[in-house]
Amino acid sequence: MSEFASSLEASPLSNVRFNYQPAMQSNGLQEIVQGLCQKHKQIHPKYFYDHLGSQLFERITETPEYYPTRTERRILLENAESIAKYCGEDCVVIEPGSGSSEKIRLLLETMRPKAYVPMDISAEFLHHAAIRLGQDFPWLHVSAVCADFASYEPAQRQLPSGKRVVFYPGSTLGNMSREAARGFLGKMAGWLDSEGGVLVGIDLHKSSATLNAAYNDAEGLTAQFNLNVLNHLNRIADANFEPEQFEHLAFYNESERRIEMHLVSRSDQIVRVGGHAIALSQGERIHTENSHKYTLSGFAELAEQAGLKTVRVWQDQDALFSLHYLERIQ
Ligand code: SAH
Ligand code: AVI
Repeated sequence: MSEFASSLEASPLSNVRFNYQPAMQSNGLQEIVQGLCQKHKQIHPKYFYDHLGSQLFERITETPEYYPTRTERRILLENAESIAKYCGEDCVVIEPGSGSSEKIRLLLETMRPKAYVPMDISAEFLHHAAIRLGQDFPWLHVSAVCADFASYEPAQRQLPSGKRVVFYPGSTLGNMSREAARGFLGKMAGWLDSEGGVLVGIDLHKSSATLNAAYNDAEGLTAQFNLNVLNHLNRIADANFEPEQFEHLAFYNESERRIEMHLVSRSDQIVRVGGHAIALSQGERIHTENSHKYTLSGFAELAEQAGLKTVRVWQDQDALFSLHYLERIQ
């Protein structure tokens, strides 16, 4: 294990432990190069999240335009008791893409789980979030996993025993295609025993004006977040992108019901990525993220196709965002 990995596995608290499972470097490089060699160039959105990317995401969530985080927080706060009843006491909460782990804080005192498993690709950010949580909730066992949630399979022995609840807030599922989202819902269903459930936050279809504003905040933080993916690739994929040579583009694609984020090349240029030369012409786009928006019935249908039935849905008064408790169809 590298010095960096072992430093991340070290914990100063007895109730917090770490399991560091880095994605295979060579696979990552191959995936990045392949994405950039396509006719429609793309970069997987998981590469947004180096340490700065995670910090920028947190700042986006505080902008007046980005309604999803504050709306979901309100839903969690106002319905904590009812949510806790569905999840039950003493469960093991697994959160893929846990980020700052701020949302689980809103449920902990009412829900009283016996363990919490935050899982994130952004190693250092996860490390700090888990320690802060362990300090603030000394009764909680925190078992953090640094991994790509798409390929991670929690081995029975790595997780505390008990009824499992998969907490997947933030509409992170929306960053997958509908087909991949169906697959990932099925995968989360497989993490449950016959008991337990998936508590998932889903952003809803709404006016293009609200959506376009949320991904084009006036402070320019979403633009910085989008462009920062290039700095991350420069470090991990031996690339030489010049972020100033690209422009942020985000818009709601009504027919696909998704926000699309792209980076638009400002000039004809050749970029080196892991020994490959990638040519971009002026105006050409690199597709960096989709953020799918659902209707309640559309999402329930997708969940059912993944073997999960909708047990309860909570939403805000303005129907901006929704939280779903799903159980396995036996
Ligand atoms: N759950 C938090 C954070 C959402 S942001 C909230 O609701 O506010 C999305 C999070 O998912 C980020 O922290 C990012 O690092 C993580 N993430 C994105 N893709 C990932 C992947 N493939 N594997 C693990 N974590 C991932
Ligand atoms: C993490 N994910 C759900 C965010 C979203 O809204 O799709 C990421 C994000 N991209 C731009 N702003 C926020």
